[in-house]
Amino acid sequence: MKPKNCLIFGASGQIGRNLIRSLTKSNIKVTALTRNIHQKGYIIKTQANPGYLEIVEGSIFNYDLLKKLFRQADLCVNLVGILFEKGKNNFTNIHIEFPKMISKLASIYNLEKFIHLSALGIENAGESIYAQSKLKGEKEILNNFNKAVILRPSIVYSVDDNFTTQLMTLLGLLPIFPIYYNGKTKFRPIHCSDLTNSITKIITDDIRENIIEFAGPDEMSFKEILEKLLSSIEKKRLLFPMPISLARMTAHIFELLPRPLITNDQLRLLKYDNVLSGKYKSNIDFNLNCSLKFEDEVNKYSYMWRNEGEYSKKE
Ligand SMILES: NC(=O)c1ccc[n+]([C@@H]2O[C@H](COP(=O)([O-])OP(=O)(O)OC[C@H]3O[C@@H](n4cnc5c(N)ncnc54)[C@H](OP(=O)(O)O)[C@@H]3O)[C@@H](O)[C@H]2O)c1
Repeated sequence: MKPKNCLIFGASGQIGRNLIRSLTKSNIKVTALTRNIHQKGYIIKTQANPGYLEIVEGSIFNYDLLKKLFRQADLCVNLVGILFEKGKNNFTNIHIEFPKMISKLASIYNLEKFIHLSALGIENAGESIYAQSKLKGEKEILNNFNKAVILRPSIVYSVDDNFTTQLMTLLGLLPIFPIYYNGKTKFRPIHCSDLTNSITKIITDDIRENIIEFAGPDEMSFKEILEKLLSSIEKKRLLFPMPISLARMTAHIFELLPRPLITNDQLRLLKYDNVLSGKYKSNIDFNLNCSLKFEDEVNKYSYMWRNEGEYSKKE
């Protein structure tokens, strides 16, 4: 069968890299748009089955380029997202205007499917600009393209993430580690390959649903996540419940950095549990298998964060 062509925005990111592997193994060709082919091209290229990938350099706001790409596409997955704002890379442009524009194009060029990555818990987090922008983006998409499938995952982890790997690095460095809201916020971490294999299945099995929530098998508080990571890297640290006023002050300082560790907007988001709402169907309803367990998966790669690195690996 002639392979379909899937246009991916945000292909160089954590989910994008894993998705390219999954799609191209399933006889789906990928066209990946990147801002800088010199910086990101090699990361994207090594993920694909040979002959299944085209990398195009350009801006996500170059409308003529987008029209050309949509003309050749059967499917589209939008993974472009940011956690903090920098200049024109702000929540309005990235989470609302861009999805609005490409969902219109998906409709004009009559794509078979348009899959968009949103996030779990955004309906509760009214105080977070990130959450509100994601929500507005979803509304624009559903207005423009009724065949859209919006996925709302909980936190996504893998060996190449910015979550477990960054936390293990910080836990290795800091004798005392701050936790916000007493570390009580709940998450359902989902392994990146479980999520990307599900995206492939949504395409191959033609699953039709406007909003699907995604959660991994274990519900864990932020404190429990840190304790699991600490046990995995064989370190003991004091987890210090930081008063929220102090957390806000430190976040203001972090916001001055090019890549802040935490922002005030993320602090507002962290207040709300990141678990299935019960209002929408989830991966479980569609038999999308997301059963990889956090502890087992993290144990497979965490040994590099132990004192003895690879020599600490248990055979
Ligand atoms: N990872 C999670 O835990 C998680 C959880 C819930 C929802 N999500 C959502 O899933 C989506 C993908 O997440 P991810 O973890 O793969 O993100 P990621 O690793 O941070 O990658 C984000 C992607 O967006 C691209 N991007 C950002 N600003 C751009 C711009 N101005 N122009 C063009 N490209 C731009 C990045 O390109 P560059 O590489 O060039 O910067 C990158 O490819 C996002 O929408 C995110 O909100 C992620």
